[in-house]
Amino acid sequence: MSTVLVIGASRGIGLEFVRQYREAGARVIATARDDAGLARLNALGAQALRLDVAEPASVSGLAWQLDGEKIEVALYVAGVLAGGNVGDPPSAEVFDQVMRINVLAPMRVLPQLAQVLAPDARLVVLSSRMGSMGLRTNGNSWLYRASKAAVNSVVKDISFGLQGKAVCVAMHPGWVKTEMGGPGADLDVTQSVADMRATVANLRPEHNGTFINHDGQALAW
Ligand SMILES: NC(=O)c1ccc[n+]([C@@H]2O[C@H](COP(=O)([O-])OP(=O)(O)OC[C@H]3O[C@@H](n4cnc5c(N)ncnc54)[C@H](OP(=O)(O)O)[C@@H]3O)[C@@H](O)[C@H]2O)c1
Repeated sequence: MSTVLVIGASRGIGLEFVRQYREAGARVIATARDDAGLARLNALGAQALRLDVAEPASVSGLAWQLDGEKIEVALYVAGVLAGGNVGDPPSAEVFDQVMRINVLAPMRVLPQLAQVLAPDARLVVLSSRMGSMGLRTNGNSWLYRASKAAVNSVVKDISFGLQGKAVCVAMHPGWVKTEMGGPGADLDVTQSVADMRATVANLRPEHNGTFINHDGQALAW
């Protein structure tokens, strides 16, 4: 039975990953930061761990909680969207919140995950097409875009250390109907996650250090 880890699984895309991987028979370890989120994970039969990725004390406890695990698929999902459009400077508080959760937290958590990966594992970081500079056509939500461009850089850097051992990618889930995506988004969360699971299953060593759409298409950084 394969072991899947989902970081940031209290709701939205993360929770749906847990539901679908459990349904497929995987053993799932998943994190949430409050009791309600942990209860939802337990109800799906996951092993629930408490983790607030923005809290250094919480993050520093992750390595021992995962000690001895051999994770085949690790999904880093936690993220926030905040701040205005281009020309609207964010407050220091909003800047810190978005950059802490979307960039600093992966820089703290991903090296720990790299230590518990099984041979030939998949490490997938939920990024966004909004972080792509090659594909960008406007400056809406510029702080969020900057944070996802930065986490793409983090994924690329982590991928060098995993070359030949695992496959690490940044993945765009599509525009998805969650609290973040809103009700007008293109994709139901079930479809987005089904697409991403299929894409993850098809990842090959040559995909290490790339940026991929939910349907498996390559994306420009
Ligand atoms: N939805 C879209 O259209 C879309 C498009 C492109 C990329 N994405 C990316 O996909 C990922 C998931 O998005 P989503 O749509 O599922 O968003 P969501 O419904 O807003 O859920 C966000 C998740 O991140 C968790 N999180 C936020 N701050 C955290 C922290 N400090 N510690 C631990 N967990 C934290 C939340 O936990 P709490 O419940 O505790 O807040 C929640 O589980 C994000 O990285 C997002 O940027 C989404």
